[in-house]
Amino acid sequence: MSLLILILQVSIALLALPVYVLHFLGLWKSVSQRIFPYIMAKISVIYNKKMESIKKDLFDNLCDFTGPSGELTLLEIGCGTGVNFKFYPRGCRVTCLDCNPNFQTFLSKSQAENDHLKYERFLVAPAENMSQVADGSVDVVVCTLLACSVTSIQKVLEEVLRVLRPGGAFYFLEHVASTDESSWMYFVQQILNPTWKLVLDGCDLRRNTWKDLEKAKFSDLKLRHIQAPLNYNPGRPHIIGYAVK
Ligand SMILES: C[S@@+](CC[C@H](N)C(=O)[O-])C[C@H]1O[C@@H](n2cnc3c(N)ncnc32)[C@H](O)[C@@H]1O
Ligand SMILES: *[C@@H]1O[C@H](CO)[C@@H](O)[C@H](O)[C@H]1NC(C)=O
Repeated sequence: MSLLILILQVSIALLALPVYVLHFLGLWKSVSQRIFPYIMAKISVIYNKKMESIKKDLFDNLCDFTGPSGELTLLEIGCGTGVNFKFYPRGCRVTCLDCNPNFQTFLSKSQAENDHLKYERFLVAPAENMSQVADGSVDVVVCTLLACSVTSIQKVLEEVLRVLRPGGAFYFLEHVASTDESSWMYFVQQILNPTWKLVLDGCDLRRNTWKDLEKAKFSDLKLRHIQAPLNYNPGRPHIIGYAVK
């Protein structure tokens, strides 16, 4: 079985040979950083259409976490092109953070289209080190499709807990590893993963992100496993919910 998996992994890698060549020449990272925003902009139109009602339900109770000042201060990490703004309540104060500055033009366009929000800053930084965001300064942190590509989810969660005020919430919607090792999905994720990860900016199909959330020091965790309505997509198994500091 493991030999079959290896043969299939190599076959898929051969289809992406030019990318591997650039990778071994040390050039792929910078090429990828430039083209990934365009790829994301295309993918996210389809993804968000299918996920619209799921996201609407997820973000429905954001206002419950409005701060003592009467305003909702929200930090979106790994914001990418800014696909979630339309779900945030009117007047919400939004700070965006992403490690790739090449998302800026797409992000600005999305901000212009969603003028019911107040945009504060766009920070170019890794979510593992958000030193520009003060301790206990935000009511809500949001991430969608970020955990799959961070270097350390534990560090990200530590930072999320640091920047949230007590009683603040961390909202997430993430694709994860299939939990059923005997399933076709588990097998497909295994054979696709090495090439998928290289081509799609470090996106790992096999993360057990729910385990990290369970281990992190939140006082309450509302987490559900769902099958996203994405036929034949190896990123179909998702986790969704929020955690309260
Ligand atoms: C798959 S995209 C998702 C974008 C957007 N959140 C969405 O739902 O469409 C992942 C995003 O996370 C960013 N990212 C990856 N690793 C990161 C890290 N360690 N810190 C901050 N952002 C990161 C990428 O640049 C990219 O914008
Ligand atoms: C975090 O980033 C800041 C700059 O934004 C830097 O000064 C600091 O050394 C970094 N900390 C770690 C642990 O990497």
